[in-house]
Amino acid sequence: MQGIHHFIDTNKERFIHELFELLKLPSVSADPIFAQDVMNTAEKVKQFMTEAGLENVRIEETPGYPIVYGEKIIDPTLPTVLIYGHYDVQPPDPIEEWESDPFEPVIKKTEIHPDGAIFARGASDDKGQMFMHIKALEFMIKNSKLPANVKVMIEGEEEVGSTSLEWYVKNNHDKLKNDIILISDTSLISKDAPSITTGLRGLSYLEVTVQGPSHDLHSGLYGGAVANPANILAQMIAKLHDEDNRITIPGFYDEVVEFPSELRQRINKIPFDEEAYKRNLGVKKLWGEKDYTTLERASIRPTLDVNGIWGGYTGDGAKTIIPSKASAKISMRLVPNQDPHEISKLFKQHFMSLAPESVEVHIQEFHGGYPYMMPVDHPGYKAAEKALMTTFNKEVFPFYTGGSIPIVPLFEKELGSKSVLMGFGFESDRIHSPNEHFGIWNFLKGIETIPYFYQFFVESHNA
Ligand code: BES
Ligand code: MN
Ligand code: MN
Repeated sequence: MQGIHHFIDTNKERFIHELFELLKLPSVSADPIFAQDVMNTAEKVKQFMTEAGLENVRIEETPGYPIVYGEKIIDPTLPTVLIYGHYDVQPPDPIEEWESDPFEPVIKKTEIHPDGAIFARGASDDKGQMFMHIKALEFMIKNSKLPANVKVMIEGEEEVGSTSLEWYVKNNHDKLKNDIILISDTSLISKDAPSITTGLRGLSYLEVTVQGPSHDLHSGLYGGAVANPANILAQMIAKLHDEDNRITIPGFYDEVVEFPSELRQRINKIPFDEEAYKRNLGVKKLWGEKDYTTLERASIRPTLDVNGIWGGYTGDGAKTIIPSKASAKISMRLVPNQDPHEISKLFKQHFMSLAPESVEVHIQEFHGGYPYMMPVDHPGYKAAEKALMTTFNKEVFPFYTGGSIPIVPLFEKELGSKSVLMGFGFESDRIHSPNEHFGIWNFLKGIETIPYFYQFFVESHNA
C-alpha cells in the first residue's frame, strides 16, 4: 500500500516508545491492588486513540473496569469494521522468574527475534497487538486512506472473563453494529507460515475443595484413622483421566464434533517442529489423548487440567499434620458443540460422586465461555487471507488454536457478526508466563498488514 513502508520506517521509534508507555502501566485486572493502574491505562489508551484521529473517543463506565471506545464514521453507506482488543494483562507472578522487571519494558534479541523483542507483561497479550490497530488507523486516517467506517472497543477485563463487556455489548447493540469484527489477540504459526485463527476453544472453570476434619491434626496421633483431604483430592483428580488420557466424566464427549479426516489432514499439514516445540517447553516427551496428534490435542480436542492445587503445610522444613482441607482449580477447554454450563454441571455431578463419605466436597464455578469457529469461505476470512498473502507473499494457513476468547462467541450471538482472528504474536511469546515478549518484526508486520484487510474487505463488500 502506498506510503505504508515510509510511515513505518519514519515512525517506528515513536511507536515503540508509545507502546512502552502502555506497558509500564501494570494493568492487572485480577488483582484489586492495581485498580488505579488499570484506570490509568484506560486513560492512556484514550489518549492514543484520540491522537490517531479517532472521534468521539470516550471512557465508557461499566460496573467494572471501563471500556475505551472511539470511532471514525466516514460514510454510513460503507461497511463498518469493529476492532476489539484488551488493555488489561495477566498477573506477572512468579515475579522472581522474570529476567527483567515485567513493567519496565526492554528490547532483547533472541533466536527467533533477531530484530529484537519487547519484554514486558502484556507485550504480546494484548497491548502490543491492540496497539498495532491504533497505529494502522493513524496511518489510514492521516493519509485519507481509511476505506470503511471503524469502531474501536478496547476492554479492561478480558483476563478475568469480560463480565463488564458482556453487559456493555448486551446494552449497546445499535452503537456496536458492524459488518465484521477484527481482532489481534492470537498468534501466527511463524514468519514463514502466516496463519489466521479459525477456531477458539471454550472454557469451564471450577474450584474444588475437599473438607476433612474441622482443623489440622497431628499426623502421628490421627494418621491412619481419618481420611486425609489432600490424599483424597489427589485420588479424585487422578480418576478424571483414564489410561488413554481421555476424560472420564460421563457425557463429557457427547456433544464433541469429530473432525472429518480432510480437516484433520489440513491441521496436520501445518509446519510443526516437534523437537523445537519440546525444547521451547523444556519437556523430554509430549503427552496427550490417544489416537490424536499434538496439533490436534492442543486445538480440536477438549481437555481437563489442574491449574493450581494447595492444602496443608507448604512452608520450609517438615511439619507433621493431616490438613483439614485441600483445594484445586480445574479448567476444561471445550470444543464445538460443548456447552460450558452443561459441562460444568457434568463435572460437578461426577466429582461429587467420586468423593468418599469421609470427606465433604464443595465446588465453586467461575466464568467460562463457548468455543468458536470461523469458516474459511467467509468474506472476513478471505480479506484477512489476502492481506497476509500481500505482506508475507506466502501461503496462508487456517489454524485452530487451543486458547479461548469468550467474548468472541458472545459477539456472534449478540451482534450477529463474525470475528476475524488475525493475530501477529508467536506461540513462543510466553503469554501468561514470566518473560512475555513480542517481536518488533511482528509488531511492525501487523501495522503493515492491517490496512490491507480494510481494503480487501471493502472490495469484497462492493463486489
Ligand atoms: N489472547 C488470549 C487468548 C489466546 C492467545 C488465544 C493465543 C489464542 C492464542 C486471551 O487473552 C486469553 O488469555 N484468554 C484466556 C481466557 C480468559 C477467560 C481468561 C485463556 O485462553 O486462558
Ligand atoms: Mn489476550
Ligand atoms: Mn490472555
